[in-house]
Amino acid sequence: KTPTQAPLYALVEKAAALYRRQLREHPQANRAVEYLKQRGVSGEIAGDFGLGYAPPGWSFLLERLGRGPGEQARLLECGLIAEQDGRRYDRFRDRIVFPIRDRRGRVIGFGGRLLGEGKPKYLNSPETPIFHKGRELYGLFEALRSNRKLASLVIVEGYMDVIALAQFGLTSAVATLGTATTADHLKQLLKTAPEIVFCFDGDRAGRDAAWKALQIALPLASGHQLIRFLFLPEGEDPDTLVRRLGRDGFTALMASAQSLSDFLFDRLAEHGDMASSDGRKRVASQAQELASEMPAGIYRDLALERIAMLKGVSPGASARPRSRRPGRSA
Ligand code: UTP
Ligand code: MN
Ligand code: MN
Ligand code: MN
Ligand code: MN
Repeated sequence: KTPTQAPLYALVEKAAALYRRQLREHPQANRAVEYLKQRGVSGEIAGDFGLGYAPPGWSFLLERLGRGPGEQARLLECGLIAEQDGRRYDRFRDRIVFPIRDRRGRVIGFGGRLLGEGKPKYLNSPETPIFHKGRELYGLFEALRSNRKLASLVIVEGYMDVIALAQFGLTSAVATLGTATTADHLKQLLKTAPEIVFCFDGDRAGRDAAWKALQIALPLASGHQLIRFLFLPEGEDPDTLVRRLGRDGFTALMASAQSLSDFLFDRLAEHGDMASSDGRKRVASQAQELASEMPAGIYRDLALERIAMLKGVSPGASARPRSRRPGRSA
């Protein structure tokens, strides 16, 4: 029998309400409001996402929600306070807080951003009985709230990317929470929309994250859904880019997202030597290894055809017979 987590949900919800109120009422909140304004976040979108402000000081929440030992134990359990050398203190201090909701809309944790430079730039709730980073997607509840039948979902890196896109009317972005994309994330997304588009930052870390996501996606690329990858100009992320290009410009760029297999072959080719036949064969065998992760279906068939071409042999001579032959069901 698993204990009910109702008290934890209630507590985190209370904290979210307190933080929201501080953004309007706390004597030092003007810095937070200025910060959001300077980043172009409208009051309306801040409301939609329930943004708040965790004031400076070590015991804002502790004093308000941690009066008894039972309450404090619960605050610890849901990661809102931390403990060191027997001292307990608020985890989020002088930060903009982004409540993270599960797909049903229950607040389960927070991300907190500094109002300027410094480290760590973002602080996130730790793993708790109600918050599992590998499962949750920031913005999924809000995306589904704006449209139950999403034609596509865009996976971005950050809180501000989700928020900026939403502010420009692109309400189908979700973010992994500072962790790599997991198979669980992908399964949920593929169940939710017929197309998913990865759109990570235009930097080395973003491209590497996309490559890791491709590897996670391979066994799930059944052909019933489209999985695509959009690469942004160097130094841009979806937040900066949508503000520069506007909604239509960003949407036009989305249309140029690469298919999973184009990304797969392009990336291997970039890192290999396509000028020599040995190099091409090496790329082909790397591609073969990756393609073997894919379930039988149209994507794998297409990949195998390309691999055969790289090897300079006809697809019929490759390990697996060619698909789409009349009378053959995959
Ligand atoms: P980025 O470094 O790309 O930050 O990290 P960002 O989202 O563009 O943030 P802004 O625009 O400077 O506000 C992408 C994501 O990685 C996680 C956060 O979820 C962040 O949104 N992250 C980043 C952390 O968890 N901790 C950090 O210190 C930095
Ligand atoms: Mn659990
Ligand atoms: Mn980044
Ligand atoms: Mn950013
Ligand atoms: Mn970024």
